[in-house]
Amino acid sequence: MKALKEHFKDEFLIGAAVNQNTIDQDADLLKTQFNSITAENEMKFEEIHPEPGQYDFTIADRFLKFAEDHDIKMRGHTLVWHNQTPDWFFKDDKGEDVSRDELLDRMKQHIKTVMTRYKGRIYAWDVVNEAVSDDEGVELRPSKWLEIIGEDFIDYAFQFAHEADPDALLFYNDYNESNPDKRGKIYRLVDGLIKRDVPISGIGLQAHWNLYEPSYHDIDTALKRYSELGLTLHITEMDVSMFAFKDKRTDVLKPTEEMLDLQAKRYKEFFGLFKKYQEHISCVTFWGISDRYTWLSDFPVKGRINWPFLFDEKGKPKSSFDAVVN
Ligand code: XIL
Repeated sequence: MKALKEHFKDEFLIGAAVNQNTIDQDADLLKTQFNSITAENEMKFEEIHPEPGQYDFTIADRFLKFAEDHDIKMRGHTLVWHNQTPDWFFKDDKGEDVSRDELLDRMKQHIKTVMTRYKGRIYAWDVVNEAVSDDEGVELRPSKWLEIIGEDFIDYAFQFAHEADPDALLFYNDYNESNPDKRGKIYRLVDGLIKRDVPISGIGLQAHWNLYEPSYHDIDTALKRYSELGLTLHITEMDVSMFAFKDKRTDVLKPTEEMLDLQAKRYKEFFGLFKKYQEHISCVTFWGISDRYTWLSDFPVKGRINWPFLFDEKGKPKSSFDAVVN
């Protein structure tokens, strides 16, 4: 069996999100198949900076050591996000919102502290995550960042990140990236950043897709549009759920042959597109390693099992794997 990272060595890096369990359980797969990792949660604000002035780098350090020991690169995820960021960060001693200047200063300190520690070792950062709204007619998602600082919080985040590590690749990362309305907003946002000379290097497409959505055409168009911006593209969180977005079933305890076949077909299409845009895409990261563990077995339907990856629950390659490498 040829490894994924070997198969795609001339096209893009092949990454996986890891957590404290999977990095041990699937260590062999990680070492043989992948050449990039991302911490699934452990570098997010609430984990790495849980209390004012208190940082906890223990787990992130461990992941980076694993990566360096095995010739694997690491992406940093994520610095500025509306989720998994503690409330205290936006508040003063009296529980009131801090001023714009104070929040900018705090943002700068957070970015600087985290990025300086890993300077030259983490090659790419998701600097701003999910700032664009899913609602039609609304460009940016309501958040404390937007409310207190204003729209330019995004510009500042990239500037602070660039000051902290001028050699790191800096990404804007989002989901529903191929939806026509949302991709238009992401395109406009990034185009504006480029025109204002904000130091952004790339766009991250999360790629939380499923057997039915989004369409091949929408992904093709999104990749084409984003490519036109001239930045590098990373697929940052890929999984192909067995269930359509609106499907709420919880009674499927094992994937059917039909599901597995359809998944392989979808993976083949997606990787066909990645190859089509290979000059623009420099990394494809899955949001997990094997079907042994996926965040989709809890989201969006609590407790529902899912099988979104190329390797099964025992770490064996699925027909989806064959579809991708053949
Ligand atoms: C998810 C993790 O996988 C879960 O374990 C956690 O409970 C919630 O966050 N977009 C992102 C990722 O940018 O950080 C999210 O990760 C999935 C959606």
